[in-house]
Amino acid sequence: MADNTKPWRIVAVRRLSKPQLDTLSEIADVSYFEDITTTNRADFMSALATAHGLIGGKLELTEAMLAEAPLLQVVATISVGYDHLPLEALSQRGILVCNTPDVLTETTADTAFALIMATQRRLVELSNMVREGHWSAHISSAHFGTDVHGKTLGIVGAGRIGAAIAKRGALGFSMPILYTAGTSKPALEQELGAQRRSLEALLSEADIVCLSVPYNDDTHHLINAAALAGMKPTAALVNIARGKVVDEDALIQALRRGQLRAAGLDVFSQEPLQADSPLTAMHNVVVTPHIGSATHETRDAMAQLAVDNLVQALAGKGPRTPVNERHWRRTNNTQEG
Ligand code: DGY
Repeated sequence: MADNTKPWRIVAVRRLSKPQLDTLSEIADVSYFEDITTTNRADFMSALATAHGLIGGKLELTEAMLAEAPLLQVVATISVGYDHLPLEALSQRGILVCNTPDVLTETTADTAFALIMATQRRLVELSNMVREGHWSAHISSAHFGTDVHGKTLGIVGAGRIGAAIAKRGALGFSMPILYTAGTSKPALEQELGAQRRSLEALLSEADIVCLSVPYNDDTHHLINAAALAGMKPTAALVNIARGKVVDEDALIQALRRGQLRAAGLDVFSQEPLQADSPLTAMHNVVVTPHIGSATHETRDAMAQLAVDNLVQALAGKGPRTPVNERHWRRTNNTQEG
């Protein structure tokens, strides 16, 4: 039953701690869903029908669902990416969207580097060899990896996360850095000696290509068969962006043909990746389950930022990290209906 002393109703989905839910409960009636399943989907939709705020990780909000949420004013996603949200429809309705940039930058760059290390030094493949009892003699050149230090690191999309990856490469591993970006990045060029390239040039020169672009119409299948054909056969591809930035079928074909040496993938066209995907059978592919920002510290900081954004926005104040603030119709009044 609604508490009429609280002005708002909030639907919260996944990834919120008890103190964070308590903060939300101070201003709102909160319906919390640890997950949305076929069993509780009707309850979720019924809570959404009267909600002013929606917060959560991996929110799957379609335009059809939005039509069932007439009071919705703010959507606070616990992610930096918002490609899973119908941004245009939300903006047209004057609904504010907030995301969680910055707090995950360093952790996601760590993940990229973990994949770089794992693909270059064949960590998963060789660890499995030991576990499976196949370490029976001195290792030979058949088990050797490829250096990381000194190799040319190509970063596709030198935003915050791309820049943090570049810093690790240049300062930690003496790697020459190439990058693509809409505009040049003087700080990266001055501090790290990074050089801007066209995508084509970067792909042909880099030993390790790391993708860190947002997913949108422009980046859909940015790395397609032609792009893969332009990479060095000795190169590795690392993707911590979004699965659909890569044409996955073309990547599988390129790996099969030896057009590139290895891939480290944290994101996939379809998630969860099915265990019988051809990618899981390739010894030169390292797959992780979309763990870019998945540390205790960072997921907590992301959830806290999303809570702060939601509370501030419902109070009619500017949230810290809005996505579409200019479309937001602030309604600093109390509960409708
Ligand atoms: C993000 O924040 O967008 C990461 O990919 C985690 O979902």
